Amino acid sequence: MPPPAAALAWLSIATIAVAAVAVAIVSSSVGGIGVNWGTQMSHPMLPTTVVRMLKANGISQVKLFDGDAWTVGALAGTGIEVVLAIPNDQLARMSSSYDNAKKWVKENVTRYDHDGGVNIKYVAVGNEPFLKSYNGSFLRTTFPALKNVQKALDEAGVGNRIKTTVPLNADVYSSPDDDPVPSAGNFRSDICELMVQIVRFLRDHNAPFVANIYPFLSLYQNHGFPVAFAFFDGGGPTIDDKGAHYTNVFDANYDTLAWSLKKAGVPNMPIIVGEVV
Ligand SMILES: *[C@@H]1O[C@H](CO)[C@@H](O)[C@H](O)[C@H]1NC(C)=O
Ligand SMILES: *[C@@H]1O[C@H](CO)[C@@H](O)[C@H](O)[C@H]1NC(C)=O
Repeated sequence: MPPPAAALAWLSIATIAVAAVAVAIVSSSVGGIGVNWGTQMSHPMLPTTVVRMLKANGISQVKLFDGDAWTVGALAGTGIEVVLAIPNDQLARMSSSYDNAKKWVKENVTRYDHDGGVNIKYVAVGNEPFLKSYNGSFLRTTFPALKNVQKALDEAGVGNRIKTTVPLNADVYSSPDDDPVPSAGNFRSDICELMVQIVRFLRDHNAPFVANIYPFLSLYQNHGFPVAFAFFDGGGPTIDDKGAHYTNVFDANYDTLAWSLKKAGVPNMPIIVGEVV
């Protein structure tokens, strides 16, 4: 195994707001409990109601998918750590002009950055922008957008506390079919160079790598996927790799990322698991 790169890992343990919100409770053995709070819901709830639920469940970290003012405002004064996001459809705007990034930071970050305001920790630039099914639509805009937004945060004087990152789907890295062990992992060949540049930028700004890992999608989307390997309680097939012994796809996937980061020259980068399904 590569050196443990985990600083904060969020694992899915349950879903609150049954059938209502794209809110998944995530817990961690390392860094605390976080929730993804989306706004596409079958039963819309008032942001103040959601915030009350978060507090009642002891949730101290939340990841949003945009900067909706009503939602963000509801988190003011709670101390809850917030990941704010710039949606993919805004990446072109953020990459084409530094001024747009500056305005975004002013309207969506610094206005909340005061006593009794919102405890923003990260800005997520895009959401899984390199997903294979996007056909490369965001390949040219994501990194320039990332750089512009981090620069705008730095210039606004908050860049030492508020970091940019890019939540990426686990499909940005993999191990070859003929050598399916974590230590053989690397970033996808079509984006490998870009990924190396991005992770080195993140390292230079003390920002974490955010990966979304979906053991159950692996299970449901692949015929013949060994069911027990999707769960943490073992009893299924295992993978042996250079002395490491994997009993579930989550650990194997996580370490495939850790190896990929090591090969990119950033072996100690903190990894945050942004979503797990
Ligand atoms: C701030 O974020 C909101 C919500 O994502 C977005 O609609 C708005 O355009 C952003 N503001 C600027 C100045 O980019
Ligand atoms: C990607 O390409 C496929 C096949 O050509 C197409 O069906 C799909 O709509 C495209 N998706 C996007 C986001 O452009």
